[in-house]
Amino acid sequence: MTLCSIVNVGNPNLKMRSEEVAWDQIKTHEIQSIIDNLLLTMQYHHGAGLAAPQIGTNLRIVTYGFDVNPRYPEAEPVALTMMINPIILTHSHEMQPGFEGCLSLGTLRGEVPRYTELQVKFYDRKGNEIVKAVKGFEARIIQHEIDHLDGKFFIERMSSFEHFGFTEELKIHGIIP
Ligand code: NI
Repeated sequence: MTLCSIVNVGNPNLKMRSEEVAWDQIKTHEIQSIIDNLLLTMQYHHGAGLAAPQIGTNLRIVTYGFDVNPRYPEAEPVALTMMINPIILTHSHEMQPGFEGCLSLGTLRGEVPRYTELQVKFYDRKGNEIVKAVKGFEARIIQHEIDHLDGKFFIERMSSFEHFGFTEELKIHGIIP
């Protein structure tokens, strides 16, 4: 496993649409290594989630999940999950605002409206097709990470910049925990 450096905003590769992984490639050493590296790099940096383009691979692979996360101290645990070619099948009508950060955007945080519930389809790392219903913070993470696969940052989803800034500054003012 290799700890990768994080690709930061400004790199044009983060604005690209990433490619699907062919099903018959999922079990290859190359794809399994990317998944391992993504997982290791996410956990090292305490990411709630991480998308492959953020470690320099423009393929549709994401990881997310944690028991406790110092970046989101009030978040409930989210099961560690790896998704290949994730697709949102259905989503709630309702959206809720919540603060997000991104390892590619340094310490910036902003309030983003996201669908509260999703049904998502993906391949797991063994190539099994999974359909899963998710809600709350997990649904938020998935929308954030799939956006990365389509070249979008959370700041592009913000409806207002009233609640936006550096983590430390927002904490000082009691806007985030
Ligand atoms: Ni991100």
